[in-house]
Amino acid sequence: MNSAMINRDLNLNYSGAEAINTICSNLTFSGKNIKKIVITSCEANDGKTFISMQIAVNMAKRGKRVLLMDADMRLSVMTAQYDIQLGGNAVGLAHLLSGQCMLEDAIYRTNIPNFYLIPIGTDVKAPLSLIATPDFENLLNAVGESFDLVVIDAPPVGLVIDAAEIAKRCDGSVLVLEYNKTHRRSLQDAQQQMQRTGTPVLGCVLNKVAMDRLSTKKYYYHYGTKYKYKYGNEYGYGYGRGEYARGEYKR
Ligand SMILES: Nc1ncnc2c1ncn2[C@@H]1O[C@H](COP(=O)(O)OP(=O)(O)O)[C@@H](O)[C@H]1O
Ligand SMILES: [Mg+2]
Repeated sequence: MNSAMINRDLNLNYSGAEAINTICSNLTFSGKNIKKIVITSCEANDGKTFISMQIAVNMAKRGKRVLLMDADMRLSVMTAQYDIQLGGNAVGLAHLLSGQCMLEDAIYRTNIPNFYLIPIGTDVKAPLSLIATPDFENLLNAVGESFDLVVIDAPPVGLVIDAAEIAKRCDGSVLVLEYNKTHRRSLQDAQQQMQRTGTPVLGCVLNKVAMDRLSTKKYYYHYGTKYKYKYGNEYGYGYGRGEYARGEYKR
């Protein structure tokens, strides 16, 4: 198995770590059969990769054998974003699904114990043609057997169909929404689209709420920390102040 080095510091500040901890505890209680989860959102930049990475690391620290799969075939920046150095031939999901490498070449053991990664590998011209295939389904079945948890970082739902295609083959999905950006209507559409796959939407994470935006409404401070999240089955803006101070998380 090849190795990968994740060079970026993934530690969060105290409140950020607490928020991710709670998300992961809730995921743990979602059911024993929830092994393959897809993380998606309405648009680019909502924080799918950030949340996928944090969930994967947190679960790995809990002793689970975790595989993070980068399946954002249209716009994957994960390896650059997290300064990941891939050993071997740097192949990934795209190579694997197009028959250019074997599964064992595409899975990397990272420098974080219990944390394994399938990077994207390369840009793909027709991503959907690779995802809506029996090969992809076989891949998910195979990794589902050998890992305790598979976290799939998907493209946004709605813009492209891939997230729903991926969700069909998973045990649950998580929707990330960006505070003050994701529209209620888009969220409802995304939720419906994901529900139509027949795979349960496990919950949503309200991400990126800056404290300073809330500063005029003092009572929000009573929710406390700089970084919160909402994880659960409620959708909409009335619930759960997800908050984090932009730029203040520890790099
Ligand atoms: N909770 C968060 N705290 C701090 N930075 C975040 C958070 N969520 C996302 N970001 C940052 O916002 C940007 C977009 O996030 P990313 O995960 O790449 O979005 P997506 O995968 O949905 O396109 C990145 O620079 C990421 O580091
Ligand atoms: Mg991303």
